[in-house]
Amino acid sequence: MTRTVYVNGSYLPEDQATVSIFDRGFLMADGVYEVTSVLDGKLIDFEGHAIRLERSMAALDMTSPITSEALADMFRELVRLNDIDQGMIYLQITRGNPGDRSFVFPDASLPATIVAFTQNIPNLADAPAAKTGFKVISVPDMRWGRVDIKTTQLLYPSMAKMMAKKAGVDDSWFVADDGGITEGTSNNAYIVKGNRIITRQLSTDILHGITRASVLRFAAEAQFEVEERPFTVAEAQAADEAFSTAASIFVMPVVEVDGKPVGKGTPGPVAARLREIYLDEMRKTAI
Ligand code: PDD
Repeated sequence: MTRTVYVNGSYLPEDQATVSIFDRGFLMADGVYEVTSVLDGKLIDFEGHAIRLERSMAALDMTSPITSEALADMFRELVRLNDIDQGMIYLQITRGNPGDRSFVFPDASLPATIVAFTQNIPNLADAPAAKTGFKVISVPDMRWGRVDIKTTQLLYPSMAKMMAKKAGVDDSWFVADDGGITEGTSNNAYIVKGNRIITRQLSTDILHGITRASVLRFAAEAQFEVEERPFTVAEAQAADEAFSTAASIFVMPVVEVDGKPVGKGTPGPVAARLREIYLDEMRKTAI
């Protein structure tokens, strides 16, 4: 089945969907994005993603070209057209096509470019990796200073993913100048000590994960203590458990950091429990 994608108001076969070479997203990485997961053919944590999208655009002085109601309708139509039961929807909004290259932002009246497509992942909820866990390495956080804005400039995270791949592991965790881990290449990072879940506090140093917000809320409701502060590689290696969260992986156990096992070196009970609670709750509130 050919994938049907969305470009600027049209639903088209993927090989007929085009964007200009002058698009600001292509020339300047001047665009924002969201990844929303789909379970049982429904959108997971949609409202959080829609709110963060607005926040990212506002931070970049971009005028929002679509209401969250219209966005939900468009996402649902893509899910229907592509018959997605489990998977993800990628949405990208750029500052549009000014018809030439310039460092100056085009006039705010220029129409934005909106692109969206689905990714069919039949075993997203039952991912084999969740049973074995991720191994990670630490790498210096060399990204720009506003990673709280979900922009499409993902070259360094992509390089960090390749560093992980070359090291024979699954992901990289970024380490800031203060020695604390900020987050993973495309996920938020946590450690567990006893009944306490530790993750870096919200700031411009990390993406304000939508999965993070939900998982921390469920963790508090399940009587875990939540401590928002930086933690080091050494602390992670000495922790009982570690895990990462993102719309693409939900709650993913992390079993090794820089070659040293975390806890027993196998997925721990807290990550498993949080994953289960997250999936249950999200399935109940999916739209
Ligand atoms: N990434 N941190 C970074 C740097 C991310 O890129 C992501 C998401 C997260 C987790 O955010 P959320 O829980 O809202 O998905 C944290 C997406 C999945 C991606 O780029 O594919």
